[in-house]
Amino acid sequence: MILSKRLLTVKSLVPHGARLLDIGSDHALLPSSLFLDDTIRSAVVTDLKTGPLSRSRTQLEAACFGAPYSLLISDGFEAVDRDNYDFAAICGMGGELIARIINGGGDKARIPMALQPMTAADKLRAYLWDNGFSIEKEVFTTEDARVYVVMLVKPYPSGGNSRASERLSSCECSHSPYSYSDLYLGQCRPDTEEFALYALKTARAAEKRLIGQRVRGEDTSKIEALIEEALRFSVL
Ligand SMILES: C[S@@+](CC[C@H](N)C(=O)[O-])C[C@H]1O[C@@H](n2cnc3c(N)ncnc32)[C@H](O)[C@@H]1O
Repeated sequence: MILSKRLLTVKSLVPHGARLLDIGSDHALLPSSLFLDDTIRSAVVTDLKTGPLSRSRTQLEAACFGAPYSLLISDGFEAVDRDNYDFAAICGMGGELIARIINGGGDKARIPMALQPMTAADKLRAYLWDNGFSIEKEVFTTEDARVYVVMLVKPYPSGGNSRASERLSSCECSHSPYSYSDLYLGQCRPDTEEFALYALKTARAAEKRLIGQRVRGEDTSKIEALIEEALRFSVL
């Protein structure tokens, strides 16, 4: 089975022995590959639609050799049973949709997760920091001229607002309060070529938004600070 670099990066964040919940699995390549490596103990594989779920079934039948898995039609966490997983992956969707899925999950979503937004990572970071999650790690990877970010996320023990829970954080790179630049660059900022490219693309996108802000006569101080910071990180 050949996994994309994007899914290989997600896979690297799934802990050994996890009982995985893969929301929006589509083809079930992630859980199948994790079963083949003996990384996970079980998998709950979900999707909104029957088509993707039947693709998942075919893939899992070929990869699992009797390993325990279940397939569910579910909108986000709606139909899943909290007793059946201890780690979730929500990957390959827009950042705002991922935030909505976590928000709709309530207590069922207060678990460690690997999140991979295809767009709007800034919106997802804001949601997580404002709603009692810490971003423990961000890993960046490149494929076909795109840069992907994969986040390892954990709920603060007390829940609630990340600012209030600041002292409870044990993560490597997350701290509060966050700045406007943190929303676009994250707080982890690894010293890698992939992050340097992510920073460069972030700067270029911000430069386009800056033009619009200038035309509208808005305050451009935050976006100018973002561009300066992003360009600094874009050179290794
Ligand atoms: C682009 S695929 C990503 C597949 C896989 N997770 C990956 O990263 O390669 C997105 C999948 O999410 C499913 N999806 C979208 N919204 C969903 C929701 N609210 N709950 C569950 N699945 C959802 C779609 O049906 C689709 O199969």
